[in-house]
Amino acid sequence: MSQAQEEKDPSALKFPKGFLWGAATAAHQIEGSPLADGAGPSIWTRFAHTPGMMLNGDTGDVACDHYRRWKDDVKLMRELGLQAYRFSVSWSRILPEGTGRVNQAGVDFYSRLVDELLANGIEPLLTLYHWDLPAALDDRGGWLNRESADWFAEYGSVLYRALDGRVKKWVTLNEPWVITDGGYLHGALAPGHRSKYEAPIASHNLMRAHGAAVQAYRAEGKHEIGLVVNIEPKYPATDSAEDAAAVKRAHAYMNEQYLHPALLGHYPPELKEIFGDAWPDWPAEDYALIKQPLDFVGINYYTRSITRAAESYPLNTGVVRNPLGTYTETGWEVFQQGLVDLLLWFKKTYGDLPVYITENGASFFDPPVADNGRVRDPLRIDYLRKHIGAIHDAIEAGVDIRGYMLWSFLDNMEWSLGYSKRFGIVHVNYGTQERTPKDSARWYSEVIATHGTKLADPLPY
Ligand code: BGC
Repeated sequence: MSQAQEEKDPSALKFPKGFLWGAATAAHQIEGSPLADGAGPSIWTRFAHTPGMMLNGDTGDVACDHYRRWKDDVKLMRELGLQAYRFSVSWSRILPEGTGRVNQAGVDFYSRLVDELLANGIEPLLTLYHWDLPAALDDRGGWLNRESADWFAEYGSVLYRALDGRVKKWVTLNEPWVITDGGYLHGALAPGHRSKYEAPIASHNLMRAHGAAVQAYRAEGKHEIGLVVNIEPKYPATDSAEDAAAVKRAHAYMNEQYLHPALLGHYPPELKEIFGDAWPDWPAEDYALIKQPLDFVGINYYTRSITRAAESYPLNTGVVRNPLGTYTETGWEVFQQGLVDLLLWFKKTYGDLPVYITENGASFFDPPVADNGRVRDPLRIDYLRKHIGAIHDAIEAGVDIRGYMLWSFLDNMEWSLGYSKRFGIVHVNYGTQERTPKDSARWYSEVIATHGTKLADPLPY
């Protein structure tokens, strides 16, 4: 993106009427008290208590203590002016054994949260699955078991019956790619498996579960449901034919593996090349289940990757660093043009489906304790400003983008990296649980209050 494009005249910025400004979190990353009020353990409770799996031995047992502080957290959202809040439900609070017996106390927790959001004028976006499978279901094979599609539809139906109407925007899965790549191929995320043979099966069952949950929603619910994927544009490291082929494979593996079956009803052919004899030939009826009409797609965007041909891809990712790039604390290059490229690719490939940006944000170093009520985070502001600008460019280019859910409302447990990475616009002091809106939160409040028109203003802090 040129300098001129980046520093555009604020009066030129215009977001569509009704464009929703919000922030996102996920249950296991913020709630704490994972076993409270009759909840069952999830694979994340188990994984975090397995020695050696989590950085610094961190766990989600306390996290941001949101399970007890939810009311104050909603108050803070309102003070910041958030119009929407994307959160996830912990399946094992609702169904402690994963199926069968409903734990009413778990349903009540989310019901109260939704009521509080609505009372504060904040629209809830509910994600059914953000990675915390009930441990009881993992004991039955987890996502490797074909029955998982029925389990997931049963779980979804309990929530649809309890909350549809108050919740009008539903998401089935958050990031099936990360669930499989992290949980079944590389093993860095729960349940910590490392198997090229399991990965395609887990992915496929996740997509069948997505389809079954959408079908169940059409029977019970009356509003909108979609799928959230993380996508990342791939650019070649050199202009060699090998790197061009590697980019094509990486793009299929990460960007098309889930969107193609969900929206087009087939997998990209490269997956068979990548997985070889580990890639099964699925029955035709599976594709019919997976491809359900969706009301929207949620896109999570953090970075791009520069890719070179690599032996034993995808175990070896072939990602190359840009020596001139700015990188975040999680080692991700700041590259907002990637978001524009990707949204244009999405529109060209899948048509005019409404899109929400359901996650976007950055971890940069912030001190563990706020400095007299203040956390200065200019790098985060810069990141957000560039990416919201990129969304604006994509809207101008004709992509139907309906809202932006920044990641994240609070600093939280960054999965196996524990509390070492802070993504929040609200700082959490993990010693006292004190919340301090960072400068980025004040900046984002102003963006919301001006409906994005103040984006290009010089930073006021
Ligand atoms: C996930 C979040 C995670 C964030 C930053 C996304 O992949 O949905 O749970 O914290 O990225 O890594």
